[in-house]
Amino acid sequence: MGQIPWWRTEFSGGEADSAFQAISDGRLSQGPIVAQFEKQLTEYLGVRNVVATTSGSDALLLSLLAAGVRSNDEVLIPNRTWVATAHAALIIGANPVFVESEVDSPIISIQDLKRKITSNTKVVIPVHMNGRDAHIDEVLEVCNEREITVIEDAAQALGSRDATGSYLGTKSLAGCFSLSVAKVISSGQGGFVTTDDDDYAARLRLMRTHGVENVLDPRSWEIPGFNFRFTDVLASIALKQLEKLQVRLVRLVEIYRKYEYGLREIENVQMIPLRIEGGEIGPYIEIFCSRRESLMKHLSELGIESRAFYPDMGGAAYMGSRSKGRFATRFEVEGLYLPSGPSLQDSEIDFVLESLSSFKT
Ligand SMILES: Cc1ncc(COP(=O)(O)O)c(C=O)c1O
Repeated sequence: MGQIPWWRTEFSGGEADSAFQAISDGRLSQGPIVAQFEKQLTEYLGVRNVVATTSGSDALLLSLLAAGVRSNDEVLIPNRTWVATAHAALIIGANPVFVESEVDSPIISIQDLKRKITSNTKVVIPVHMNGRDAHIDEVLEVCNEREITVIEDAAQALGSRDATGSYLGTKSLAGCFSLSVAKVISSGQGGFVTTDDDDYAARLRLMRTHGVENVLDPRSWEIPGFNFRFTDVLASIALKQLEKLQVRLVRLVEIYRKYEYGLREIENVQMIPLRIEGGEIGPYIEIFCSRRESLMKHLSELGIESRAFYPDMGGAAYMGSRSKGRFATRFEVEGLYLPSGPSLQDSEIDFVLESLSSFKT
């Protein structure tokens, strides 16, 4: 068995031809192919608007700007996420405040959310980690009665649903998605925002292009924005990837089930579950192992790449002061990604399981 990478990004169904065609046709910046990609996503997700942009991080940043978040506003963020969520708030001078996650699941604790809300709280960003429903209905209930805006970070959740059957990232003011390399579908870099609010969508579109809808008429320039434009070349790749989304989601469920079955027999590791039967689908296979570093070494010696979980959000020095006296969660200390993703072969999963079995503490 050769090397098994943690993730393989597969472009094998005409993406190169599509990108070549876009370039040949002179479709380089944001144009009709981006518009077509947005249209197909609105249909797939059942939302009124999709606004494509350069990354999931920019989707978050743009959605905060368009929601009117300014310096010193508090933006509540779960302590388990990728730093992009916190940076989107920090970089515009807002104040990210970290909310604890649940003990067994890396999603926002509703109890702690209620504790952390203050009169300065402007936005709450639940993060649907690895396709898990971050209690979106409860978050909305808590926030709606306090008139706090909710923006969903659904970067890891395209195609995953909550128990009511709705796609994650479609219930709040905005859902932010990523098309980076280790996602179900990818254009290398890319992202998009979903919203059912047409006025907000218009603001997102304006701010995506420096607030300038009509470059030739400066009198119509109303609000500041930035260059958050996507490109037709990348959208042509993303459109091809979108054709494979459904097949990939089905494959992710198969992979999850195969790992789940195999891991039941294996001591020292424990799967961090998803509610697959409730509609959740996640790109990654996540486990706890109390001797994570030794396990990673053991796997690496057998040619298997794995990835330790990111630290909790208070971990970085420049954010540490925001969570004084913090205790690292079990996710930070014991969390590990096993080889994952829709391109993984059954034989590779068998080998990973075998290799986990031969790990002795
Ligand atoms: C939870 C979460 N939020 C935001 C992002 C940012 O997305 P991007 O890498 O496209 O900027 C990611 C990317 O991995 C993510 O996992």
